[in-house]
Amino acid sequence: MERRVALVTGASSGIGEQTALELLRRGFIVYGAARRAARMSAIVDAGGHAIAMDVTDDTSVRAAVDRILAEQGRIDVLVNNAGYGSYGALEDVPIDEARRQFEVNVFGLAGITQLVLPGMRERRSGTIVNISSIGGRIYEPLGAWYHATKFAVEGLSDSLRVELEPHGVRVVVIQPGAIRTEWNGISRRSAMERSGTTAYAAQARALVRTLEAADESAGAGEPHVVAATIANAVTARRPRTRYATPVSAKFIVGLRRVLPDRVFDLLIRRIFAPTKAEFAESANPRVDEASTTASPVAGRERAAA
Ligand SMILES: NC(=O)c1ccc[n+]([C@@H]2O[C@H](COP(=O)([O-])OP(=O)(O)OC[C@H]3O[C@@H](n4cnc5c(N)ncnc54)[C@H](OP(=O)(O)O)[C@@H]3O)[C@@H](O)[C@H]2O)c1
Repeated sequence: MERRVALVTGASSGIGEQTALELLRRGFIVYGAARRAARMSAIVDAGGHAIAMDVTDDTSVRAAVDRILAEQGRIDVLVNNAGYGSYGALEDVPIDEARRQFEVNVFGLAGITQLVLPGMRERRSGTIVNISSIGGRIYEPLGAWYHATKFAVEGLSDSLRVELEPHGVRVVVIQPGAIRTEWNGISRRSAMERSGTTAYAAQARALVRTLEAADESAGAGEPHVVAATIANAVTARRPRTRYATPVSAKFIVGLRRVLPDRVFDLLIRRIFAPTKAEFAESANPRVDEASTTASPVAGRERAAA
């Protein structure tokens, strides 16, 4: 049987890297794409391909898709995984950064999908896997823009699923919970950078502590668990529309479904409530705090350069 061709975005780390490796193990021809091409050597060593690509740069996205089509003639599976968490109080986050969050998490995903779809439609087969989050169903304080993008991915994917069904193309949504990757550190740094010294400073500290605890908790999962779920979905005869993973994520999404807004608000407010110490620290922030937390986006761009 002909080997299926998969393109995985955000493959230089975390869920994307593990997904590329898992699909290689399951016999796929795999192309990993990310800005930091040098960080994809594990994929190349395992027999895959690495492409430098920024999902916000149309020229690099087109070049990546064209290269795969020239080399393989088809893309059977697209895993739209590239993304990051931009945190901070809505009042504190510059609208340019909010736009950038949408550029990466939503428009980047949509742009690459547009280029991959014509081939899938012509062959009347293919699978688009969109990496959303439990954050596409639930919400956190100081997470407005991240959640806005993931709620957008959920709605976009639902429309796309029914739109593409008559054309033989499948759309699957993955909702990871807390997964131990670079995502958590980037999100925490962005919260402190934007709101660490503002009126929301105590909430920023509480958020950072809560995200840290979530990452260290027994309920958090490793990226290979999400990768296995993605690989199961793309090889299933009839995949589900959504997969929440790991088990703790299923629980949280289930809870959100049954709890009314006000009750869920109460729960979220309790979980993210600042301690007395966090209030005190926020009233007297150390001078070096905000200046030592580099922009996650700028940091990534420096790394990619
Ligand atoms: N970890 C979690 O707890 C969690 C929970 C729910 C959902 N998610 C979602 O899962 C996805 C993967 O995240 P992760 O946890 O694996 O985080 P990660 O380890 O930080 O990986 C993110 C990947 O996205 C890539 N990326 C970021 N901006 C990009 C851009 N402009 N163009 C191309 N690639 C870009 C990064 O590569 P370069 O920097 O090299 O470009 C990296 O490979 C994200 O969509 C995230 O929102 C994560």
